[in-house]
Amino acid sequence: MKALILAGGFGTRLRPLSCTRPKILFPILNKPLIEWIMEKLSESNINEVIFAVNRQTALHLKQAKLKFPKNEIKITYSYDPPKKPLGTGGPIKRAEKILGKEDFLIVNGDIFTDINYSEIIQMHKEKGAVATIALYRAEDPSRYGVAELSEDGKIRRFIEKPPPGSAPSNIVNAGIYVLSPEIFSYIPKGRKVSLEREIFPILVREEKLYGYLFKGLWTDIGKTEDYFMLHRILLETFHGKVECLVKGEGRVAQPSLCGEGSVIGKGSTIGPYTVLGRKVKVGRDVQIKNSITFDGVSIADSSIINGAIIGENVAIGKGVQINEDCVIGDHASIGNGVTLAKGVIICPAKEVLESVTASKCVF
Ligand code: GTP
Repeated sequence: MKALILAGGFGTRLRPLSCTRPKILFPILNKPLIEWIMEKLSESNINEVIFAVNRQTALHLKQAKLKFPKNEIKITYSYDPPKKPLGTGGPIKRAEKILGKEDFLIVNGDIFTDINYSEIIQMHKEKGAVATIALYRAEDPSRYGVAELSEDGKIRRFIEKPPPGSAPSNIVNAGIYVLSPEIFSYIPKGRKVSLEREIFPILVREEKLYGYLFKGLWTDIGKTEDYFMLHRILLETFHGKVECLVKGEGRVAQPSLCGEGSVIGKGSTIGPYTVLGRKVKVGRDVQIKNSITFDGVSIADSSIINGAIIGENVAIGKGVQINEDCVIGDHASIGNGVTLAKGVIICPAKEVLESVTASKCVF
């Protein structure tokens, strides 16, 4: 079976980190999200993956030295037209020729899940559906597409992002679909189409939309909070199962993960709930907790970081304090003695030499 991965969005809610990498390359426990997705797909005998992307995302994907599963998966690129994003439905129509005349799988390129793809594929075939959506029970359904499911698995209603408190259930679209080639006749050609808002309601009316409700691990990384929460869950899940490849005299409070080549100086404590990327240099008497740092970050002596995400190759000076919900874009530098208040966002490559005392975005 073929799978098309939707990966041509702009990830605006994950800025500034998505200014310099597509969501599909965000590190999850120091491994790009796409590698996790491909591993799961290969377990379900998917033998061809089509990346539905824009040129920029394709460039990032081709430049990243990705490690895909050993069993052969053919990779094809299908491009949105330049400067004309096609939404979640348009890229499927555009890849019609590549997808061919068999059922196929669609996966949003921003989800982390341990779903069993084979089960949803089987259900789709048994029901003879045009589309089968993977569904998950969410705490806050208003952020997602919400489905009302009948006992035979048919979706009676599908409402995209209902106002808080008005959702007909807590069963939400998990961003994974099995589609039959009949779907192509529902998607208009050459324009942006929302599968969720335009196509699914038609399929509901025609009683051709089914839902596969699953339990287990699922989260999208749409927002910074989701990205944090996913790491919290995974650090607990993988605690003791992954090696913490750290050097130096510092201490690691579990659950935490330190990437290869990272060094922690004397008197420093990393964790709990912290991920250090690869080749991260932590000086002396530093404290980092509830935080994620990408590869190549350096943090000088006596700095304190709590609840922040630090982008690739960021340089942090001595005695810096970075508070909760701060996000620092790649290649930024934070000068000695600077304090960043809760919720400060620093754009990529920005040099910050003075403290920022209120939550704001520094361009
Ligand atoms: P935000 O800007 O933060 O809303 O993110 P997004 O648009 O990248 O993601 P969204 O959750 O809206 O989209 C779900 C999936 O569809 C993601 O994996 C996106 O990469 C992908 N996607 C969204 N829009 C497009 C598009 O226009 N073209 C393609 N090829 N993929 C898209």
